[in-house]
Amino acid sequence: MMMRPKEVRHFLPLVAGVVDDFVDRLGSKIDPVTQQVSLLRDEIAKWSLESSAMVCFEKRLGCFDGGSGETWAGKMVEANKQIFLLSGLLKFSLPLYKHFGTPKWKEIVRHEDFFYAEAMRLVRETISKIRDAVDKESLEEGQYSFMTYLLSRGELQEKDVFILTLSLFADGLSTTTPAALYNLYCLAANPEAQEKLKSEIREKVKGEVTSETVENLPYLKACVKEAFRLYPVGTEVSRVIQQDLVLSGFHVPAGTHVDLSPSVHFLSEEHFEDAAKFVPERWLRDKSYSTPKANAHPYLLTPFGFGTRMCAGRRFAEQDLYLLLIKVLQKYDLSYPTDEPELGQKYMTLLFPDRPVRVLFSRKHSETNPNAMWLSGRGMWFTYVFGVFALHIFLLSIPFLSIPWAWTLTNITHDIAMFVFLHTVRGVPWMTLTQGKESSMTHWDQIDYGEQFTASKKFITVIPIVLYILTSYYTNYDSFHCFVNFMALLLVLVPKLQSWQQNPKQL
Ligand code: HEM
Repeated sequence: MMMRPKEVRHFLPLVAGVVDDFVDRLGSKIDPVTQQVSLLRDEIAKWSLESSAMVCFEKRLGCFDGGSGETWAGKMVEANKQIFLLSGLLKFSLPLYKHFGTPKWKEIVRHEDFFYAEAMRLVRETISKIRDAVDKESLEEGQYSFMTYLLSRGELQEKDVFILTLSLFADGLSTTTPAALYNLYCLAANPEAQEKLKSEIREKVKGEVTSETVENLPYLKACVKEAFRLYPVGTEVSRVIQQDLVLSGFHVPAGTHVDLSPSVHFLSEEHFEDAAKFVPERWLRDKSYSTPKANAHPYLLTPFGFGTRMCAGRRFAEQDLYLLLIKVLQKYDLSYPTDEPELGQKYMTLLFPDRPVRVLFSRKHSETNPNAMWLSGRGMWFTYVFGVFALHIFLLSIPFLSIPWAWTLTNITHDIAMFVFLHTVRGVPWMTLTQGKESSMTHWDQIDYGEQFTASKKFITVIPIVLYILTSYYTNYDSFHCFVNFMALLLVLVPKLQSWQQNPKQL
């Protein structure tokens, strides 16, 4: 049951919002020194889970909110990873697990019980919300469209609705996740193709990404196809032959189980010129890559299978991948460490990257918002403390100022300056960079690209508290000084607490 393109496009704005948040949050996950994201696979998996939840349940699960939603998502991702790893190991072990519960079998059952119980809970919650809304006649048109569509199909029983929704919710985790990693890797390792794709995106994507925009990006689609050719996710497409066939000169009787392994013909020089190279041009209709055997036959590439049993989630997966690549490349330049060998694949029921994918993300120069990262280096923390100290020494050196007043003035000046610059000024007024969300965000909210409770934000919260304690001590806890300094402290703490309360997640 494959969804029609129009039905899949309906979800584009919902999943595009998830990609926006994911790409924003990526900023705070990139190590400023190595430019890499540790556990990139898990980050991408959380995005895939959040995106599927938006389609199935029209609900944000908070898979990258840094709080309980993210902890839950981490457990789901880990359970899914273990299920695929252990299933792969069992497939090639003695089939003892078929007769009694071997340790690996029990382990799989434990992970599956957890994963599917959680997914079923979400399906049940959504069905009961839909029924409530129908009873109260408050269900809006287009709301919960995936599940209302399934529920409205007379031929489907409730258990079918559960199975189809579970599949849509869970399948992307083990398929779209590695496919996204392979695409990022291929573009990072092939700067020329990446540059061509970026110029296509620069030229054709203006403002919001719509389904029409995506349709108009042939090079993007060619890149995704080529990544599937070099790094297919599945190991085989299986069929039981319905009638006698002759395949490559061999007689194959009806009823035989035949596996077609994409890794063989996708990488065959017989079919593809420079088969080991990433050449998206071979999929372009304009035949710009014009060497013999260059423009491959479209039916050679079947990463989603073919025919009536082809992948039911193909269009969702492609839509997710296109959006992810557009939005990542709008913000980052990708590269691959020169000392790192080419990426390989390892079997875990499906084909996953054989090691952590070390893509380097560097912010495009024109997109760099200095407000977001200036505090992320420890050198800046030292400079900040030194600046406050220098202000204090200057005030102490004014002859008529007593020591208590020098402390109080240091504290008040610091807190007022912090209030004005961090909590009142919005956007990046001293720069002409394209300001999207930043234009309405205070400097405080922009720090670490909106991520809350980061080390920099904790540092900048602790500073006025420490300064207040020192000032109270050096003013001998005089009640007037204490009062004035406390007011100054409130001036900078209250907006931070408000911001944490209003934006518990990243913005
Ligand atoms: C990059 C992502 C994906 C790849 C490469 C992929 C690949 C495949 C392949 C090769 C098949 C077997 C097709 C055949 O035998 O002809 C398949 C089947 C299937 N896939 Fe996917 N898939 C992906 C994502 C998804 C997603 C996101 C979903 C859920 C929405 C999904 C749901 C399914 C289902 C339900 C089937 C069984 C279809 C049937 O037997 O009728 N897949 N997929």
